[in-house]
Amino acid sequence: MSDSNEKLHGIVAYFTDIDGLMAAARKVRDAGYKRWDSYTPFPVHGIDEAMGIKPTILPWIVLVMGLTGLSLGILLQWYTNAFDYVFLISGKPDWSLPANIPVAFEMVIAFSAFTTFLGMLALNKLPHLSNPLHKLESFRRITDDRFAIVVEAADKNFDAGRVRALLGAASAEQVEDCPVDTSRAALPLWFHGLAAIATCLTFIPLAVAFKGRFATSEKPRYHVWPDMDWQRKRKTQTEWEMFPDGRAMRLPVEGTIAQGELRDDFELYFGVDQDSFVPDRVSYDAGAMGPSAEGRPAWLTGFPTAMVVDEALLERGQQRYDIYCSVCHGQQGNGLGSVALRAKALDAQKWGWVDPKSLLADNAKSYSNGEIFHIVSQGVSTMKGYGAQIVPRDRWAIVAYVRALQMTQGINRRELNRLGVDPADLKPVPTIDDVRVSSADAGR
Ligand code: HEC
Repeated sequence: MSDSNEKLHGIVAYFTDIDGLMAAARKVRDAGYKRWDSYTPFPVHGIDEAMGIKPTILPWIVLVMGLTGLSLGILLQWYTNAFDYVFLISGKPDWSLPANIPVAFEMVIAFSAFTTFLGMLALNKLPHLSNPLHKLESFRRITDDRFAIVVEAADKNFDAGRVRALLGAASAEQVEDCPVDTSRAALPLWFHGLAAIATCLTFIPLAVAFKGRFATSEKPRYHVWPDMDWQRKRKTQTEWEMFPDGRAMRLPVEGTIAQGELRDDFELYFGVDQDSFVPDRVSYDAGAMGPSAEGRPAWLTGFPTAMVVDEALLERGQQRYDIYCSVCHGQQGNGLGSVALRAKALDAQKWGWVDPKSLLADNAKSYSNGEIFHIVSQGVSTMKGYGAQIVPRDRWAIVAYVRALQMTQGINRRELNRLGVDPADLKPVPTIDDVRVSSADAGR
């Protein structure tokens, strides 16, 4: 065993019990050594304090990286959604915090998790593939019944003689030099060969994917998990020789009605007089709306017998109207809905926009209840129908509420009663032509 520092990895001192180890650890700590460690067969409480090991700074690094992830997540979403490519979706704000929480949260988790894992490895200087201590026969007892302190020669205060004396004085059972590992460091040749082959193999999936970019094949794609992609069933718009007409899609059997689809109450479902039902015409037909059109159904003037018109119905109607109609026709029915105002601010008429009509105007007032029901169900010229969204009874509730708006000129009926105001004395409500919008309203 050589005495020169260059050939020495460190000096090992063995102890038979924990107390000896702890006492020696305190001495080494107080002597000011930095590059040293203690090795024990099991975790020893208080050893970090005895060795003077400070708490790790990893949590702070993780905090900083977590905050970095948070800022990047928010910045990315702000940049893409509110700055680089602003896209209005359902009138939602371009930028709002709640919508961005999930992604920001995930970024915090991703950054923190990787920092914790990689930071732990880096701070511990791992991976550490070999250690000269492993070559020391006596060191094997460390996993059994001995405790050791190793002061490394790399410490800048290292002096072999003094370290030996210090550890010897600290009641070490045995003090031993650990030489530097001089065995060949290069990897064996076969390992290089294996690594080269493995590297080549990793290119195969890449090559397969690359081939898929341009090559075509007659065979179906290779499915690892077929799930339910292939089933013995007929798809829409396909052929099926089983039927004489060769179509896989079938019409309902003639003369039958699916459950819940019976529409024998013409008043309730179509808004026409029970006896004047003209099936072909009631499915929307502009001509059928004209006053002189032949074969036009007799629109219901009142309400269907199946409906009870009371305050509850009006309240339901108000609620549904506010949901489905007010965005265009305005909460008062005068056509000043938010969509209409925004369209005006954008001067949308130049793109063919048609203003929603005022439902308080004479034209709308002239419609019978059945006609308004029909308009709500099927739409009218540029207005889409709402039959698919609103069930018939609610459509009637809306009709009742539109009538109430017309009677009160858009002012709450109960409120008028409370104030003792005669609706006839009221000034006309403003229409879309009366309002001024500034071009600033057209901005985002
Ligand atoms: C997306 C905007 C929009 C919504 C929502 C909307 N409408 Fe309309 N509505 C219009 C437009 C636009 C017109 C005028 C169509 C035309 O003449 O080209 C119109 C016309 C009408 C008319 C005919 C008025 C007349 O004087 O001829 C009635 C009645 C009507 N809507 C009722 C309703 C009811 C009730 C609802 C709620 C179920 C509703 N609308 C929802 C845009 C809308």
